Amino acid sequence: MNIDILKQKINTIIISSNTKEKKLQAICNYLEQQISYYDWVGFYFNNGNKNELKLAQYKGEATEHTIIPFGKGICGQVAISKQNFIVQDVTKERNYISCGWKVKSEIVIPIFVDGKNIGQIDIDSHTANVFTQKDEQLLEYVCKKVATIL
Ligand code: SME
Repeated sequence: MNIDILKQKINTIIISSNTKEKKLQAICNYLEQQISYYDWVGFYFNNGNKNELKLAQYKGEATEHTIIPFGKGICGQVAISKQNFIVQDVTKERNYISCGWKVKSEIVIPIFVDGKNIGQIDIDSHTANVFTQKDEQLLEYVCKKVATIL
């Protein structure tokens, strides 16, 4: 993973003249395409004041989990903890919502706007034990950049 090149491309997407929705979609597409073990990349955002997350743009297989209550699954737990969450082996996680039998590991990084957690980026991988601090670093950068266009 060449983080500098990945960051540069994310910047290019962010400053393009596209709509916010198209930028978020382009980020999902780019990350899924560039990083071999990113098999599903998506953004969930807080759904008004309903204490639930709603799926926005994503790249990968369609999921029925378009609404996730706070506290449920990895995503719902991050909505409460507001902290990065890496699951290296999803079979070992009790509070987990499966989006398909192929998924082995997952990383979720919260997005903050003006210090308030308003959503997150969620990545699923078909490989176990694959996420490292490099992914956290890259995805924190992506979340900071995304925060500037929300
Ligand atoms: N696995 C997630 C649900 C979302 S899917 O990965 C797209 C979770 O446990 O919250």
